[in-house]
Amino acid sequence: KQCVLFLCSVGLTGTKYGCGGGGCGACTVMVSRYDPIQDTVLHWSVNACLQPICSLHGAAVVTIEGIGSTKTKLHPVQEHIAKAHGSQCWFCTPGMVMSMYTLLRNNPQPTMEDIRETLGGNLCRCTGYRPIIDGFKTFCDVRTISGELFSMDEVLPLDPTQDLIFPPELLIM
Ligand code: FES
Ligand code: FES
Repeated sequence: KQCVLFLCSVGLTGTKYGCGGGGCGACTVMVSRYDPIQDTVLHWSVNACLQPICSLHGAAVVTIEGIGSTKTKLHPVQEHIAKAHGSQCWFCTPGMVMSMYTLLRNNPQPTMEDIRETLGGNLCRCTGYRPIIDGFKTFCDVRTISGELFSMDEVLPLDPTQDLIFPPELLIM
């Protein structure tokens, strides 16, 4: 069974099923595994439509529901894309957010090139990408390029303590 269909079947409907063939990125989730050789947890953004659920043994999967919500607290990635008007029909938004979130887990101070490369597999049919990039470029250390649509003083800063920890029980698998 595809990971994306499993997520829907357990009520996690934030991950979207678009093309079903790895071409749109709407189904992007973050997969994490512990690497005992490097003694560290590695994170990847993956297309859940291409990921058989049986391939995820020993891995932690974080979906858009796991990083924040309007009911609890938005993650800065969610907040910045919303404030920059980077979401219109919102179908691509969970995938965009999870790609960016994974990049920040691996690299909290990305460059614009990192962001462009990270979003290379995420398609948006509405926004033309500019507002999405505007929202996400606020995570670059070149903060002066932001602020056209909103002030950095008004948005949540990146806070690593808000991130889910890797489940300790998976460290020994
Ligand atoms: Fe399009 Fe998975 S649904 S890449
Ligand atoms: Fe509609 Fe991106 S906001 S596809």
